[in-house]
Amino acid sequence: MSITVTKLSPACGAEISGVDLREELDAETVAAIRAAWMENLVICFRGQDLRPDDQKRVCGYFGQIGAYNRPKERQNPDHASDTIMLVSNVKDDKGRHIGAHPDGEMMWHTDTAYAAHPHMATTLFGVEVPDTGGNTLFSNQYLVYDALSDALKQKLAGKMAINAYEFGTTVKTFAHYDRSKVPHHAHPVLRRHPETGRTTVYVCELMTEEIVGLSPEENEAVLSEIYALQRRPDFIYAHNWQVGDFVMWDNRCLLHARTDFPREQRRLLRRVTIEDAAEVMAA
Ligand SMILES: [Fe+2]
Repeated sequence: MSITVTKLSPACGAEISGVDLREELDAETVAAIRAAWMENLVICFRGQDLRPDDQKRVCGYFGQIGAYNRPKERQNPDHASDTIMLVSNVKDDKGRHIGAHPDGEMMWHTDTAYAAHPHMATTLFGVEVPDTGGNTLFSNQYLVYDALSDALKQKLAGKMAINAYEFGTTVKTFAHYDRSKVPHHAHPVLRRHPETGRTTVYVCELMTEEIVGLSPEENEAVLSEIYALQRRPDFIYAHNWQVGDFVMWDNRCLLHARTDFPREQRRLLRRVTIEDAAEVMAA
């Protein structure tokens, strides 16, 4: 198969066409997709018709399928899975949500940054989407790094940040999680991407609690400055979902967020992640 790559925004994102993901992909096609992915950070295949096993097979071309570690007691038992997470406001006939993060906006984050080995990539397949809103926003963290002042780059060099998260939180309205109760882990603030070799910023509003070694006042000032850059419109691609979209993004160099959408409209995205074969590296 020969693929066509069409950029979706100046910041990041590309649509890949010429591929039917229900078919087995040959090594040459996978290599071409991977190259387009590393260049564009988030890639979208439209008009796909993927069953859960197809989505897992596609993820398997790029790495080992990631574990879904949401506590079992917080999953709908009829839809529990070790690998598939449903992101959905749809309810079953007992009135229970079938998936996670049902409604509303979601703050900027990168998946599983609170874990020792965060997922390299996340994929979502659009099963049902609202007429308006519920967009997934992607912020390019290479561009955020490049936009930092030299003084801030120096201040952050070698620094670690503690990332924490309580499952189910979409908007953090408080300063700190209770770390005795939630998963958390320290990672470099400035991260070296193992494939591109470029430096990326690895902190986010939803999960980063503090940069170790800075005073509370410095933390407030520095993190606010970084978060403002992460929200810069020219660093962002907004993905407007269509049914049949398969989207795959690189968690090592992107943050993502979700815009609000009407609660009465159904939204169902199926998520499968990919493990990172490399350790998180400081820049
Ligand atoms: Fe996410």
